[in-house]
Amino acid sequence: MNRRHFLLTSSLASHAAFGQSSGDRSGTAMIGVGNRGAYVMQGVLEDPRARVAALCDIKADRLDKAATTAARDNPQTYKDWRPILDRKDIDAVFIATPPHLHAEMAIAALKAGKHVYCEKPIAITAETVRDVVRAAKASNKVFMVGQQLRSFRQITQAIAKIRQGEIGEILALKAQRNGARDLDHNGPSADWYFDVNKSGGYLIEMSVHNLDLCNWAAGMYPVRAAGFGGTMLYKNDPPGRTIMDGYQLTFEYSNGATLSFSQLLYHPSGLPAGAQYVNVYGSKGAVDLMGTKNFYPLEQGAAPRQLAPEQEEPRHAHVTAFYDCVTKGAPNPADIKVGASGALTAILGHEAIRRGKVMAWKELGVDL
Ligand SMILES: NC(=O)c1ccc[n+]([C@@H]2O[C@H](COP(=O)([O-])OP(=O)(O)OC[C@H]3O[C@@H](n4cnc5c(N)ncnc54)[C@H](O)[C@@H]3O)[C@@H](O)[C@H]2O)c1
Repeated sequence: MNRRHFLLTSSLASHAAFGQSSGDRSGTAMIGVGNRGAYVMQGVLEDPRARVAALCDIKADRLDKAATTAARDNPQTYKDWRPILDRKDIDAVFIATPPHLHAEMAIAALKAGKHVYCEKPIAITAETVRDVVRAAKASNKVFMVGQQLRSFRQITQAIAKIRQGEIGEILALKAQRNGARDLDHNGPSADWYFDVNKSGGYLIEMSVHNLDLCNWAAGMYPVRAAGFGGTMLYKNDPPGRTIMDGYQLTFEYSNGATLSFSQLLYHPSGLPAGAQYVNVYGSKGAVDLMGTKNFYPLEQGAAPRQLAPEQEEPRHAHVTAFYDCVTKGAPNPADIKVGASGALTAILGHEAIRRGKVMAWKELGVDL
């Protein structure tokens, strides 16, 4: 039996087993029901193929609030996530805890035979990304990362056009994710966000989405990165802070194309240059991939045109895609390669800045 046949049959076997332990609906556990976990749980509750069977959080107020929201499904609540994995009626686990906890939880869930929806970043170090990759490859269950741009129809269609050569050969990308202020110092995530060993910092925690979009558009991973950054405005604020408040990076792709990426947390909202964008430059013209999806031809006098039409993006399309994978074996729009390459691109940039050198992708030591 070749590997492809084995993967196909084992994956079908896993879909056939769906529902046997939990009636008609996939027993789902939510680990971490803060801001994102509570939002994604709405999508689980709205999906007729799922039921919320377990909730876990170390904060009692969040657990209570989630239990009230999910009362229809009467979920059992937990302060410790581990016993959840022993439950036979749980098919799927959603992980929306702070980033430094994702790898351990995702690996344990995969080993326990659960389908996993893991928030981004899948991990915050190259070593732990590698461990998640190994666990996902060894499992016949679905592993999806919460990089939900991968389920946006307009972006998917625009990128398909780029792949078909509509903008020519990819020459360069320019992207940024600036913001007008720091994350709330007294907000509900302040207990982990400002610690680089828990969040990874803005680059790894937040810009995974933007960097993944760049890689997706380019159809390549970067081969190396260099950059600089630090804490310029919020020095030791909040006290003990170990994350940067601004950095600028250059990545190089395998065909020589470059990506210039920056994130500054002191970009006044009135400043004319937009705070967030992803521009993709091809040999025929450039696309504004995050905004209008307009293509601006290089040819003089040629009018801009939209690469893909605006359309309604269902709020929980990514959760729907997850249950499509679990129940029907549908193609996974954000599989382990998407999760790992997104996280690794951010980690590559972070390490280049931290070590003060041009950092090569190969040095990360992860096979995708
Ligand atoms: N896909 C997206 O667009 C998106 C958006 C926001 C956040 N996120 C991601 O979601 C994750 C959570 O972010 P958030 O904004 O919800 O943060 P949050 O602080 O609001 O929520 C995290 C929750 O995890 C809980 N938690 C911490 N340790 C735990 C443990 N050991 N067991 C169980 N629960 C534990 C916390 O008590 C908290 O309720 C992060 O990885 C973040 O990057 C993704």
